[in-house]
Amino acid sequence: MTYDLVVIGSGPGGYVCAIRAAQLGLKTAVIEKDKTFGGTCLNVGCIPSKALLHASHMLSEAQYGLEHLGVIVSPPKLDLALMMQHKQQTVDANVNGVAFLFKKNKIDSYHGVGKIESPGRVIVATSEGAPQILETKNIVIATGSSPASLRDASGAEIVKDEKIILSSTGALALEAVPEKLIIIGAGVIGLELGSVWRRLGSEVIIIEYLDRILTGFDAEVASRFQKILEKQGLIFKLSSKVTNVSKTKKGAIVTLAAVDGSSQETLSADAVLIATGRTPFTDQLGLDEIGVSMERGRILIDDHFATNLKGIYAIGDVVRGPMLAHKAEDEGIALAEILAGQAGHVNYDVIPSVVYTTPEVAAIGLTEEEAKSQEIPIAVGKFPFSANGRARAMRETDGLVKIIAHAVTDRVLGVHIIGAGAGELIAEAAVLMEFSGSSEDLARICHAHPTLSEAVREAALAVARRALHI
Ligand code: NAI
Repeated sequence: MTYDLVVIGSGPGGYVCAIRAAQLGLKTAVIEKDKTFGGTCLNVGCIPSKALLHASHMLSEAQYGLEHLGVIVSPPKLDLALMMQHKQQTVDANVNGVAFLFKKNKIDSYHGVGKIESPGRVIVATSEGAPQILETKNIVIATGSSPASLRDASGAEIVKDEKIILSSTGALALEAVPEKLIIIGAGVIGLELGSVWRRLGSEVIIIEYLDRILTGFDAEVASRFQKILEKQGLIFKLSSKVTNVSKTKKGAIVTLAAVDGSSQETLSADAVLIATGRTPFTDQLGLDEIGVSMERGRILIDDHFATNLKGIYAIGDVVRGPMLAHKAEDEGIALAEILAGQAGHVNYDVIPSVVYTTPEVAAIGLTEEEAKSQEIPIAVGKFPFSANGRARAMRETDGLVKIIAHAVTDRVLGVHIIGAGAGELIAEAAVLMEFSGSSEDLARICHAHPTLSEAVREAALAVARRALHI
């Protein structure tokens, strides 16, 4: 069988690339090493974590939120097995959806490990039966990433057993609520999964090497958000370096030291989640043998996703840029269009980031620090949700909208939101920024009342110091 395109990996980057290519008439196949399609995002990442975040938020609302609305319920009980069943059903519906879309678009799928023998030739090794050889005009590597490893002070890798010492995969599948959970890394995974288990009853301590949480996000937003999470009971130990994690009979012991060397501490826990980032996953692809150029674990590509070898392309977590499902999807679409002779393009300046905690945090474009370090003159407008009528009605007054505009042209360069529905509200900023809109454009657009989105408009008004409700 000869294909126009063989995609290796069926995560959001790979499966979306395959669908778009098939829509454009390319004869397409996908190779997936796991039993189900969808990669990390659908199976052990975005989707299951959102199922648990939503379910645990509901529990927390029933415990602490509803009575303030005059809704009295008998004390709610957690049934973790049922909650995990909800998570699994959500995952199943999504991965089955991908299988359906492959059939609908006449995409062939192969289960096994894909290895590139040479440009135009991919071998699929399966556990049973002889390897299959696929001939193809183009190959897309969309094999994603895996949890980064952590080394102790002696340089030895801390081994994850996914029961006591966990990656995000194990932390999404615990069979009992750990009394005490230590999380290493105050990034997106640490904060989302820390929120889940805190709401389900764990004492959660988050250890972070840097002196702040959510590196990469606007510093003011991150610091305000940390205070909100602390009110929810999360404990942070910043500027701290983990020097050892060892398993005991019942749990684990974590040794940490202040980054400046001033102190050392030992903490015990029932479980430890290592959430210190992710590494591009390129194992078994045969990239060294065929000579694909790499840099620090990532595949090097040009502006059109092409590697140094003709007909071999790469997208998503294996290449430069943020490790985000929607970034990978957009790259997959753009690449499929390029391969079909169109002008595919991704605007890397307008890619939103969302942390799905309560409240949510969402960001797009430049942070205040980035704008200042690039010596861009800026005007900043802010509006708190405590002054928004709808937020008050919902008892969701934590957070703010912060808009960063160019001080001379007024073009919006960045938008940062902490608040209920921030992940949805940021889409308005994405549309505005994609059209190079100004804060005045946003401020002149009629927003329905009463909605949370009025806070976005008010922040735009605040750029010109003319917010109405504060
Ligand atoms: P991350 O890069 O967001 O955060 C890792 C944190 O661990 C950083 O703050 C880093 O300073 C800290 N760290 C690293 N080594 C450490 C050490 N030895 N001791 C203490 N702290 C240490 O990585 P994370 O949270 O693991 O997420 C991985 C990737 O997955 C990220 O690219 C993230 O954007 C993505 N992701 C996105 C989600 C979303 O969009 N909602 C959800 C979950 C993951």
